[in-house]
Amino acid sequence: MVKQNIRILDEATINKIAAGEVVERPASVVKELVENSLDSGATIIKVDIGSDSGGIFRIRVVDDGLGMDRDSAIISLKRHATSKLSDVSDLLSIQTMGFRGEALASISGVSRFTMITKARSSEIFPGTKIQVEGGNILDISDIGAPEGTSVLVENLFFNTPARKKFLKSRQTEFNHIYSVMENTAIANPSVSFQLVHNGKEKLSTIRADSLLETVSYIYGKDMTDNLLPVRKRTSFMMIDGLCSVQNLNYPNSKQIFISINNRSVSSPVILRAIKRGYGTLLPKDRYPVAFFNITIDKKIVDVNVHPAKREVRLSRENEIANEISSSISETLKSRNLISENVSENKIGSKFSYSSEVSQKSLFKVESEKNHYNRPDMFRNPKDESEGSYHPRFSTTDNQLRLTENFEKKNSDEMKLPPIEVIGQFDLSYIIARIKSPKEDELIIIDQHAAHERVLYDQILKLRSSGKNSQELLVPALLTLKSHEAENLISHISFIADEGFLVEEFGKNTFAVRTVPMILGKRIGTEILRDIITDLMDGSAKTLEEKKEKITTTIACRAAIKAGSLLSFEQMERLVSQLSMTEMPYTCPHGRPTIIVFSRSKLDSLFMRS
Ligand SMILES: Nc1ncnc2c1ncn2[C@@H]1O[C@H](COP(=O)(O)OP(=O)(O)OP(=O)(O)O)[C@@H](O)[C@H]1O
Ligand SMILES: [Mg+2]
Repeated sequence: MVKQNIRILDEATINKIAAGEVVERPASVVKELVENSLDSGATIIKVDIGSDSGGIFRIRVVDDGLGMDRDSAIISLKRHATSKLSDVSDLLSIQTMGFRGEALASISGVSRFTMITKARSSEIFPGTKIQVEGGNILDISDIGAPEGTSVLVENLFFNTPARKKFLKSRQTEFNHIYSVMENTAIANPSVSFQLVHNGKEKLSTIRADSLLETVSYIYGKDMTDNLLPVRKRTSFMMIDGLCSVQNLNYPNSKQIFISINNRSVSSPVILRAIKRGYGTLLPKDRYPVAFFNITIDKKIVDVNVHPAKREVRLSRENEIANEISSSISETLKSRNLISENVSENKIGSKFSYSSEVSQKSLFKVESEKNHYNRPDMFRNPKDESEGSYHPRFSTTDNQLRLTENFEKKNSDEMKLPPIEVIGQFDLSYIIARIKSPKEDELIIIDQHAAHERVLYDQILKLRSSGKNSQELLVPALLTLKSHEAENLISHISFIADEGFLVEEFGKNTFAVRTVPMILGKRIGTEILRDIITDLMDGSAKTLEEKKEKITTTIACRAAIKAGSLLSFEQMERLVSQLSMTEMPYTCPHGRPTIIVFSRSKLDSLFMRS
C-alpha cells in the first residue's frame, strides 16, 4: 500500500489558496482596497487603473484616511491581522467593512504589491513604504508621504497562471471595477470617489449630503429628474431611497442598487420588495431604476456569510421587505394623485413625459368605474370635438396617427375579413365580431400586441424605403453609465442606420439628433437606453439579429399600452391598421394578437350542441 504523506502546508501555499477566495479578479482587489480606505475613515478615495491589450496591469488606491505606523503596516500584511475585531462578540455586530484580516495578505500573495502609508498626526515619524512580491517582503523603508494610505498592485496573478487565464477582456474586467466603484459610491454619499482609467476620468463624486446629489454626479440630471425620494424610519431601520417614476424602466434589474449599512449587497428579497412596490404600474418583465440605502440595527444583520461579503443575512427579512415595498407604493401613489390633479392644467404641455404619467392615473380611475366599455357607454363623439382637446386620448391618437400612413389596400388584399368592433374590455382587449356569410365569429384582440405588429411592419417598410429618420427640433441629451456609453459608441454607426443619429457630447453624454420616423415627436432617448441595454445582454450576435432586436424594441415601446382607454373610433382605426399588415395574427414576439371563438365553439362551450 502506498503511504500517504500528510503535512501542514507552508504559509505561501496557504495564502495562495485563500487568496483565491478573496481575490477573484482585478475588481475584487479594488473592492477590498476601497473598503479598507472606507474603514480608515477616508473622505477622499481615488482609484487609478492602467490597462493595455494584455489586460489590467495597474491598480492604485489612494486614501486620506487614518494611515498606519510602521509596525502596524508590517503586521497588516499577515493573514488574520485585523484592527477591526477584538473578540468573538464583535462578530455579532460588525461596524466595519472588513473583519477577517485576509485581504492584504491575499492580495500581496498574488501580485507585486507596494504600500505607502503614514499615520494621521504623526509628524515626527515619516511614512513607511513596504514592497511585497508573491507574499515575500522585498523591502521596508521610511519615506516622506502625505497622511493616509496608497496601495499599488501590479502583476496580479503572476504566480497563479490558472487564475490569470480565466480573466476576461480588459473592457469586461474594467466594467467589473466600474460597477464596484458605482455601487460603493452610491452606498457612501459622504465620501468623494474618483475612478480614472488610462488617464481618463470615468466616475467621480463629491462628498454630498444626500443620495440624490451622489446619483446626479454619476448619472446626470436627466436621471435624477425622473427619481422620487423614498424615506421612512421605523424602530429598527431607516430607508433612504430613490425610485424611478414608472415610465423609466428597464428590461432587467441591473439598475437597482441596494446597500445595507453602507455596504452594497445583492438581496433577492429586497429586490422583489422594490418591484412589488410598483404593483401593476410596471409590466411583469420590466424593472424600475432604484437606489436604496438602508440603515438597519447592526444586530439584525449578519455579513459573515459569504467570502466576498456580497450577501447578508437579515433576521427580520420579511418585515424589512414589507416596509420597503409599502414605502415605494406610498410614494408612487402620492405622486400619481398629484399629477392627476395638475394634468388638466398641463394640456398641450410639450413635455409628453408628464402628460403620459398623468394619463396613466386617469386611466386607473376610469378602469374602476368602467370595466367593460360598450360603445354606448362612451360619451358622445361630438363632445370630444367640441372640447377641442382631451388629454385622455391625446397619446393614443398620436400613436395611431403615426401608423396611419400605410398605402391603402383593396379589401381583397386585406389579411383579415371585415371586423365590427363591439367594445373594450379591461382597457386592454378589443372585443369584436367577424362577419362572415358562413358563421359569425367573436374575436378578442390584444390592443398592445396588435399595435406592435402594425409598428413592426411599418418600421421594416420605412427602413427599406430609406426614409427612416426625422430630426428633433432640439437634440435630446442622454447620459449613460460609462460601460453603456462605450457600448453605444461601438454601435454608433449601426444605430445611425436605424434612424438614431447620436453624437458624443461630453463625458458619457450624448446628443440624440434624429430618431426613427415611427417615433414621431416622442422623445426617443428612453428607447435608446432600452436598445443599449438590449444590445448589451449579448443575446443578439449577428447584424441581422441586432437589427431585429432594435426593431422589436422600438415597436414594443412605441405601441399603445395595455391599460390605455381607447375610444370606439380608435379601436376601429387600430383594427383596420392591423388588417393591412402582412401577419396580423401574431405580434413580432410571436404571441397571438387575435383569439377567435366561432359561434359553434361558443355553443359547445355552453353545451348547446
Ligand atoms: N487603507 C488603510 N488605511 C488604514 N489602515 C489600513 C488600510 N488598509 C488596511 N489597513 C489595516 O490593515 C488591517 C488589515 O487589512 P485587511 O484588509 O487585510 O483586513 P481587514 O480589513 O481587517 O479584514 P478583511 O479581510 O475582511 O478585509 C486592517 O484591519 C487595518 O487595520
Ligand atoms: Mg479589509
